[in-house]
Amino acid sequence: MIDRWTQGLLPAKPHTVFRDPDGGALLYEECFTRLGFDGPYSILYHRHAPTDEVASEVSDRGFRLEPAEGEPLPLRRRLFDSGAVHAGGAMLDARCPILFNPDVTISVARPSLSDDAFVVNGDGDDVFFVERGAGSVQTPFGLLPFHPHDYVVVPKGCPHRFLFDGEENRIFGIECRQGFHVPAQFRNDAGQLKMDAAYTHRDFVRPVLEGRAAADAAPRTVYGKRHDAWTKRTLPASPLDVVGWDGYAYPVAFPISKFQPKTGMIHLPPTIHITFAAGGAVICSFVPRVTDTHENAIPCPYPHTSVDCDEVIFYVDGNFTSRRGVGNGSISLHPAGVSHGPHPGAYEASIGARRTEELAVMIDTFRPLAWTKAAEKIERGDYHDSWKIRVDKPTTEIT
Ligand SMILES: [Fe+2]
Repeated sequence: MIDRWTQGLLPAKPHTVFRDPDGGALLYEECFTRLGFDGPYSILYHRHAPTDEVASEVSDRGFRLEPAEGEPLPLRRRLFDSGAVHAGGAMLDARCPILFNPDVTISVARPSLSDDAFVVNGDGDDVFFVERGAGSVQTPFGLLPFHPHDYVVVPKGCPHRFLFDGEENRIFGIECRQGFHVPAQFRNDAGQLKMDAAYTHRDFVRPVLEGRAAADAAPRTVYGKRHDAWTKRTLPASPLDVVGWDGYAYPVAFPISKFQPKTGMIHLPPTIHITFAAGGAVICSFVPRVTDTHENAIPCPYPHTSVDCDEVIFYVDGNFTSRRGVGNGSISLHPAGVSHGPHPGAYEASIGARRTEELAVMIDTFRPLAWTKAAEKIERGDYHDSWKIRVDKPTTEIT
């Protein structure tokens, strides 16, 4: 959904005879389409019919979304510790949904193993933010490398598996059930990213198609999720049996360090941090940056009441000393209906600050977020009342 890309071999015209240069067999098209046939699409060329299947069955593998039970809790600011979720396993099983609404499911994961099968998420586009860990995502579009502090975007319906370099991995995930896209204001009429967009076409990392040996060695098992239920499918060939593809729908990685921050004379609203858009939500990046230039600017954000949004912040790196109990891996939920902003004292203490080094990912949702049983287990209960405690250390804040 960034721009058109191509890898490998293609026929001169879609939907025409195209034979494998290695043996001459007829290749099979797969038109990977979005919004029916009206949205961005890619066309892949497989050695085996992508419709072929050996067996399929309901599976008890795969992560689950388990809503919390009981009466609604009081309207309070909440804090979760992503580092407290169970560590181990592969991404297929390790993703732990904590917050959700009909538009997004927000999860955390601490996988230690690479996936031994492919995963197809039929419920939404996945945006993963890599807090810790490195490796590659293997897909029919190619091998996509990732590093700490990268976003990894996997389109809905794309077979993929996480291959980690090590055992210590932490992934923050946003399942976008109403679609992921680049904000419309970033593009010109031709679809090109504008020169004042927050990033350029060159900032994205694309998958590189693997060869036949990788396809032959890859698993032939695919776990597919649709309507939050899992099906195990066994295929006669791995989904990597692709000789070429082109199109707009394919996985990408985007290092958050490539996001270009904006600085104003006085404090600019969080909309300057918008990075990606999703139906019913926006995803924002807070990166190290120079703060406001006015001699009397208050760089700390003003207390605010955003009456239409629930706000989630995943704290990645930097100095959060003004937030009691907030550190790397913390996740705050500031629901609509409760004003929020800097802790007492931080607003005043920020005057004169010229930089902020904080690194964080924020999601604003337009529909209320509910939480899961897993979220209750990792909640830190004293967060709401921490606003009653004065903080005097000079700092800038990002909420
Ligand atoms: Fe906010």
